[in-house]
Amino acid sequence: MLPRQVTMAHLTTDAARARCSAFETPSRYNLCGMVTEVARETPASANASKPLFHIIDPRIFERDLLDDLCDLATRVRTLAKSEEGARALRDILPTRRAMLYFTQPSTRTFLSFNNACHVLGMCTSEIRDPATSSEVKGESFADSIRTFSSYVDVIIMRTREPGRAAQAARLMDSIPRPVPVINAGSGSDQHPTQALLDIYTLARSFSERGGIDGKVIGMMGDLKRGRTVRSLCYLMRNYVGVRLVFIAPEHFAMQDDVKAYLEDHDIPYTETQNLADVLPDLDALYVTRMQSEWDSANESRAVDLTRFSVGAKELAILKSDGIIMHPLPRGAEIDPAVDDDPRAMYWRQERNGMWMRVAVLLRIFRMHGRV
Ligand code: CP
Repeated sequence: MLPRQVTMAHLTTDAARARCSAFETPSRYNLCGMVTEVARETPASANASKPLFHIIDPRIFERDLLDDLCDLATRVRTLAKSEEGARALRDILPTRRAMLYFTQPSTRTFLSFNNACHVLGMCTSEIRDPATSSEVKGESFADSIRTFSSYVDVIIMRTREPGRAAQAARLMDSIPRPVPVINAGSGSDQHPTQALLDIYTLARSFSERGGIDGKVIGMMGDLKRGRTVRSLCYLMRNYVGVRLVFIAPEHFAMQDDVKAYLEDHDIPYTETQNLADVLPDLDALYVTRMQSEWDSANESRAVDLTRFSVGAKELAILKSDGIIMHPLPRGAEIDPAVDDDPRAMYWRQERNGMWMRVAVLLRIFRMHGRV
């Protein structure tokens, strides 16, 4: 579908407040910024039509909204292949501006959001090093965020500390000109848009095999401190008959809060330290690196990574239609020779991130009907 004219209604404070209230309904935050209560009464069929404002915690996503975002990402990806389509996409949000506030290192989340904005014609500003901002003069986090909101229409942020994006969202909910806040990674806690692109990658990979429903998904590596696997686990409640297999070194197992969530939602999971035992059953193996940036005494180095790695031996055992995913960056846990195997999905997964983030921005600015 080609673009229609942007209406002024999208630019009013009332509209922004309406979006904000719509967000407040489904969730409440505790002091750490985690959602403590997610409205369960909303019928799933109604979720896809609800406005999306802040994206802080993956638990706000229901199945129909996930399906809708995946369809939207595919439409964007298809449209962007042609010159005419790419131009049409650039005409959708040319008057909107985004702030990318990434004070924790990032390559693909930063670049995919930055380029997702540009795909839609948006302008971007960035702060990646707090030493270049007025934070060094003692400006508070709250004042910094409020300042960003004075100039832009969406704040996309990654911080080393958990809860900061939620804190920014709460601040936005209390000021006259709120802008949406997107959590692009909050400490070792959550990475909701990574989970969305992971769902998109799984859904695309299994599109001819009944989708994600009924699949056996292994998650391997540092599951204790990996925010990508934590967020992806939360989204699994939206799929029927999924089984999870956690493959982690001792001391790096999935945390109890996520396991309790899975139990509450009747999502079966098993745990092992032996990949070979479970590999033949897996439809997808989601590999993660040791999150050594959180080490206090080089504890990652004590792990025998060869037991939690993928190479030629593991490829020989993996199902012929199984897939290997990785949020990247990788360490030694995936041999680069695996890249040439058609079951290696992580480079496609990385690119899917840009299309999914375009879809997210379209939903936030209520422009999804234009694609
Ligand atoms: N997957 C991911 O978050 O990668 P970056 O840290 O490079 O953004």
